[in-house]
Amino acid sequence: MKLWAGRFSKEADKVTNDINASIGIDKRMWREDIEGSLAHSDMLAECGIISKEDRDKISEGLRRLADEIAKGETEIADSFEDIHSFVEGILTERIGDAGKRLHTARSRNDQVAVDIRLTLRNETDGLLSLVDELIEMLADLALQHSDVVMPGYTHLQRAQPVTFGHHLLAYAEMLLRDRGRLLDAKKRMNVCPLGAGALAGTSYPIDRELTAKTLGFDEPARNSLDAVSDRDFCLELASALSILMVHLSRFSEEIILWCSHEFKFIELDDAFSTGSSIMPQKKNPDIAEIVRGKAGRVFGSLTTLLTVMKGLPLAYNKDMQEDKEAIFNAFDTVSLCLRAFTPMLRTMTVNAENMRKAAAGGFINATDCADYLVGKGLPFRDAYKITGSLVAYCISNSKDLESLSLEEYKGFSELFEEDVFEAISLDTCVKNRTSYGGPSPENVRRQAAAVKAILKA
Ligand code: ARG
Repeated sequence: MKLWAGRFSKEADKVTNDINASIGIDKRMWREDIEGSLAHSDMLAECGIISKEDRDKISEGLRRLADEIAKGETEIADSFEDIHSFVEGILTERIGDAGKRLHTARSRNDQVAVDIRLTLRNETDGLLSLVDELIEMLADLALQHSDVVMPGYTHLQRAQPVTFGHHLLAYAEMLLRDRGRLLDAKKRMNVCPLGAGALAGTSYPIDRELTAKTLGFDEPARNSLDAVSDRDFCLELASALSILMVHLSRFSEEIILWCSHEFKFIELDDAFSTGSSIMPQKKNPDIAEIVRGKAGRVFGSLTTLLTVMKGLPLAYNKDMQEDKEAIFNAFDTVSLCLRAFTPMLRTMTVNAENMRKAAAGGFINATDCADYLVGKGLPFRDAYKITGSLVAYCISNSKDLESLSLEEYKGFSELFEEDVFEAISLDTCVKNRTSYGGPSPENVRRQAAAVKAILKA
């Protein structure tokens, strides 16, 4: 029987139930729904709105139900409209009138708003630990590869030498910002809508401070209309998760490139790769590709949420029921991606030799050669021009800057001395890039330690 049966003279059509029901999605919030109801009934008793005896029956009944669901002894039946009517329905079936008193001074509108916030608060914590794990692992890998020279790129053209550790720490920085966004979203989410009722509060003498406190919220929401119609926290979380997926997707793209025979910078562990059904030689970076693809799904959730919310008048509208499927899907997707991505990186083999070989080609030390001349007193623009001519000379003679003779150098500028070879060696080029935030091995070790310190703080 429907919660609103008194007003209606007909049963709902089957399709009405099909489109209206949300139990398939919101059963995920059963713990939080029960937690919210326990806090609500305690408050009702404290405020003298229901008797302590009824409160005890309700608490006992709710705890028993929670225990049974956790143990799998009671199944959440899809015949109910949503998790709220399921919990209240079973409770009332078991304890009678006391169960019918639970919904005093409450509506499903403030109830569902509490449930989602509690659920997403927990899920955000879970996700944050996965993000932290990835950042920590990147810092460890960076320490391990602090002096592995690799080409740094702009326009996907070899540009200047960096270290692999430095490259990894760039992603650690992105993920630290993702972490900050999630923590920040949590703050605004942690406000309690319970007691806002359907939209206009209640005339019962309830204590909203008490329920907010019991449920671990920072404060009760100040405006009852806003309390039941605010889904900003879903939008904020979906945005934060979308940006996070941008980062994982960019990283994936690099992993895929690095695994190719053209790069051969890394090799993924067999346990985190897949093969081909027809080409026996293939080893594919499928995890990275799927992560790159799944970014689309998370952006889709954000678009869904923005679109659902954009035209809604105050206060609650049923459109908002679409929020949970979108935001839960975003959480599940990001969580799965992180759970695959971290061990995939942890177990990869780094081909330092190939990275160095790639860095040795492509005149990646041309800037350092120009800087060498600047060190000898030449203005940078002149030094740049001379080095440009040197590069052109090397290209037409199939040489590189390392293999030119001093005589050849001197043909371009008398300022070149024997020490130019040391100045343009890859190790020197990288070791000297000690400016704050730069790729020198020493910097990488310091930055990795700083990243770890942020995680601990
Ligand atoms: N299943 C609903 C949702 O998720 C619960 C709130 C129902 N409120 C209502 N007025 N019908 O939004």
